[in-house]
Amino acid sequence: MNKSVGAIVLAAGKGTRMYSDQPKVLRSILGEPMLGYVLDGLSGPFQDRVHVVVGFGAQSVMKAYPAYEGRFVLQEQQLGTGHALQCCWDAVKTAGYEHVLVVNGDVPLADGKDLEIFVEQALADAADLAFLTIQLDEAGSYGRIVRDAAGLARIVEAKDYDETSHGPVTGEINAGIYLLRVAAIDSVLFNLTNANRSGEFYITDLAELVGQNGGRVVAVNRGRDENLLGINNPRELVAAEESLRARIVDNLLETGVVVRQPGTVRVGPHAVIAPGAEICGPCDVLGQSSIGPRAVVEPHCWIKDSEVGAGAVIHAFSHLEKASVGPDCHAGPYARLRPGAVMMEGSRVGNFVEMKKSVLGPGAKASHLTYLGDAEIGAGANVGAGTITCNYDGTHKHKTTIGAGAFIGSNTALVAPVTVGEGALVAAGSVVTEDVPDHALAIARGRQVIKTRRKNPA
Ligand code: UD1
Ligand code: CA
Repeated sequence: MNKSVGAIVLAAGKGTRMYSDQPKVLRSILGEPMLGYVLDGLSGPFQDRVHVVVGFGAQSVMKAYPAYEGRFVLQEQQLGTGHALQCCWDAVKTAGYEHVLVVNGDVPLADGKDLEIFVEQALADAADLAFLTIQLDEAGSYGRIVRDAAGLARIVEAKDYDETSHGPVTGEINAGIYLLRVAAIDSVLFNLTNANRSGEFYITDLAELVGQNGGRVVAVNRGRDENLLGINNPRELVAAEESLRARIVDNLLETGVVVRQPGTVRVGPHAVIAPGAEICGPCDVLGQSSIGPRAVVEPHCWIKDSEVGAGAVIHAFSHLEKASVGPDCHAGPYARLRPGAVMMEGSRVGNFVEMKKSVLGPGAKASHLTYLGDAEIGAGANVGAGTITCNYDGTHKHKTTIGAGAFIGSNTALVAPVTVGEGALVAAGSVVTEDVPDHALAIARGRQVIKTRRKNPA
């Protein structure tokens, strides 16, 4: 994209119709904030020429996208989309852009490539102001397109629309994506008024102002492209999510992934699932997750930012976050792999096993009811049912090391910091507080005593 074209994302609004304290642009679609989709779409063509207007919940929005530091503009009071543009106008002029693409932050499914094409067209057309429109059956609360006798298009907001003066509603609506020629907008931007039903400064009024000035206004109709619909309420949010979800699943099926119960499988836009893998719904595979070839994800799993290696099986009802499951491993049913859980090739964790910041060596097993936190378990070790690494002393976390081939008997508490050597055996029911040397046997529990009862029951 031509370097004289910048991009602005309007993301300062509260999103009143979402009834939430969270800024609307951070509401998620398949695990990613709406704003992330918009930024992803723009970052390719515009690189570091993307600026973001923030206001409501500015701190949390800025925190979510640290890479944009220095390119956020604060709109302290949200006085409307036109006012948002006014707030970043200095930044636009300082950067020396000749044109800017302005995109509403609540149009997450707009495709970056499509936006690029729109910009190219508008530039070729020598537009002073170009905007995208879509055709709907019902114009709803979107801004409606009105064309005068000469064909000049302007935008009238739903609240201000009046059939007597504006004519019958056509269903052509404003998508909230504009290409502006900076010099042409400069002379009218600060003439916007808030004399309308909302008392806001509307960016949409620029079409009329530019037209009145003899500028060239171009409305580009994209037909029924639902990807360009803005999201304003929960219904629109879940509809957009469902449409993207279905598209992603369809694409997986197309590329050779077996997706069972496809209507209940939610895969995020950044997740990568290899051909030949099998995903069974209902389940979620979100964030930067990757699922290798031949791997199977059984129903009711939730996987985020995790890696599942080739041929691994994630059994039903397992929960993975920032975990890495190596090739040919088995996890679950009901496994919980928390951040930093690493299962090396061929290792297994069974039901009700929780791992956090721990490495399970190749072929090692923890098959039942176990907590492994801050632990390193060597190759081929066997961790018995009910083993707990006591990693927290109330103030600090400590490490447990279990050597290769060690055998930890059931119901053992390993009080960290502690090391069990290679090939060592810890007897069931032990509370291990001291290191166990390689190949040793540790029994750390009271010895069983047998006594005669004082009084036998009658
Ligand atoms: C806007 C358009 C409408 C269009 C629709 C498309 C205006 C006046 N209307 O309406 O014609 O059909 O988008 O989806 O622009 N924002 C700010 N600062 C503000 C107000 C809003 O940054 O003071 C941001 C919001 O965060 C949002 C975007 O601008 O991302 C659009 O605002 P919103 O209030 O959703 O406008 P709509 O009523 O949907
Ligand atoms: Ca909107």
